[in-house]
Amino acid sequence: MELSGKHIVLGLSGGIACYKAAELCRALIKEGATVQVVMTEAAAQFITPVTLQALSQRSVYTSQWDAREANNMAHINLSRAADAILIAPCSADFMAKLLHGRADDLLSLMCLARPLESVPLLLAPAMNREMWAHPATVRNVAQLRADGATVLGVGAGDQACGETGDGRMREPQELLADVIAFFQPKLLAGQRVLITAGPTFEAIDPVRGITNRSSGKMGFALARAAHEAGADVTLVAGPVALATPQGVRRLDVQSAQDMLQACLSQADQASIFIATAAVADWRPVASTDQKIKKDGSGQVPHLALQENPDILATLAQSKRAQSGALFCVGFAAESHDLLAHATAKRQRKGVPLLVGNIGPATFGQDDNALLLVDAQGAVDIPRASKLSLARILVREIAQRLPGTAL
Ligand code: CTP
Repeated sequence: MELSGKHIVLGLSGGIACYKAAELCRALIKEGATVQVVMTEAAAQFITPVTLQALSQRSVYTSQWDAREANNMAHINLSRAADAILIAPCSADFMAKLLHGRADDLLSLMCLARPLESVPLLLAPAMNREMWAHPATVRNVAQLRADGATVLGVGAGDQACGETGDGRMREPQELLADVIAFFQPKLLAGQRVLITAGPTFEAIDPVRGITNRSSGKMGFALARAAHEAGADVTLVAGPVALATPQGVRRLDVQSAQDMLQACLSQADQASIFIATAAVADWRPVASTDQKIKKDGSGQVPHLALQENPDILATLAQSKRAQSGALFCVGFAAESHDLLAHATAKRQRKGVPLLVGNIGPATFGQDDNALLLVDAQGAVDIPRASKLSLARILVREIAQRLPGTAL
């Protein structure tokens, strides 16, 4: 329940994307928000207030002359109660209206009357690609941002008019993630975070390899949490079957050597490096281009191994890390004696913060328990979902960044 306790005023202006607003309304409520729908007359041409009333379990407001409010000031009452106003879809015309501070219908009146400091305004644009690219819209988006609105991105693809391009309203689940992210504190604003995640795969031949059971879930959760906290995030992922968190740049790699190269190519721009990947310790000395066949003799092939580069130690020993420009965080997947191993590993890797966990108990799971080890000692973080732990970790990292008072 990511939005429990939040009251969202969901405003619909006219556009075919109104059909997606029904799903968005449901999704917000499923995450624990209460949703009050306000629609323009044009929106009611695309979807009925009855549908949104049923989904939000509240009567929908469409007119500034609504007599239900005792003081006859729906625009004031609705906006004062909101934790955020989300206009989805926000048409090109509605943007232009907001820009000029016009107030000739309930939705625009309510947006103009909202307390600027305490009630954020989020806009989910939805329009034809030519309208989205038009200089007037580009100008309006820039000015609305300057006026304090958060203009969310748009989707690309087939449009209801038959054309293809940018300007579609983002999908309900994407907008839901935007709203959840919006409410997270921006503890890593201005930071550039590089994260490794998942296992690596060390090829023996074209069909076989050495890998491990890491799911990548903790690293992906951290990438999401860091993005929500306002960071620019690059995720270097081994072979995992996980969707890329919204707003995160992803580089897919296979082997430890690929992962090291990808990290080295990004490290100069990064200010924080978090190594969650379960990097294979060894790789075959040589991998063959052709599948190794049984020769019928019962002899097993001899597999010579060599040690992989240590990505975390390499970055932690770099000039940037040593000068304090790159804050490095390691993970330790242990099977026993977590405190002793994690403490020793922090020293060995030369990192200011090391996060210990019991590997076999967490691989593939949605939750975990962590042990944070730094120069001051160790702190337990009790079992919770990986996303909750990731948000806690983001806070812990933000507090330890150079120049931040603990
Ligand atoms: N790590 C890395 N490159 C490696 C091995 C590990 O970047 N070749 C990173 C991991 O991402 C993790 C930390 O180092 O952040 C510790 O990884 P772990 O597998 O727990 O430890 P190892 O260094 O492999 O040591 P050991 O196998 O002895 O426990």
